[in-house]
Amino acid sequence: MVQATPLLLVLFLALGAQGLAVKKVQAEFPALQCSLTGRWVNDLGSNMTITTVNGNGAFAGSYHTAVTATSNEIKVSPLQGSMQKSPNQKGQPTFGFTVNWSFSDSITVFTGQCFVDEYGKEVLKTMWLLRSRVENIKNDWKATRVGTNIFTRLQSQE
Ligand code: BTN
Repeated sequence: MVQATPLLLVLFLALGAQGLAVKKVQAEFPALQCSLTGRWVNDLGSNMTITTVNGNGAFAGSYHTAVTATSNEIKVSPLQGSMQKSPNQKGQPTFGFTVNWSFSDSITVFTGQCFVDEYGKEVLKTMWLLRSRVENIKNDWKATRVGTNIFTRLQSQE
């Protein structure tokens, strides 16, 4: 018991030094922050604008798809979404949004997470389900497509 006291002291000092080192690293590398607001382009060349995210995490915007499963003329379409606001998100929030296509009978839902990559660039990693309208229940089996999209922030021309 008598010999344990200096050991405890050394352990205490070592832990204190480690705590200081962690604080220094945190100061040098500020918390990652990925924000959904702004203009984005995905791997298909589709463009998306998210105007504002409100205090509850609700957001809205517009989507200009580069491709379509129809023969219709593509039109800019509205989107509505929701972002997780829990403290566990640590600046890289999960989110979901729905695009109600203005030029077809379809709906797409996206779900994903807003990341900051190793170069400090924001990226949205998403999966989507595109539901097309079919004429009857017999055709339901072929009504849903699934895929992934990666969005990066559109750099504004200065
Ligand atoms: C339609 O064809 O009925 C509506 C347009 C669907 C476009 C899809 S949604 C998933 C994928 N990601 C895009 O950016 N565009 C396609």
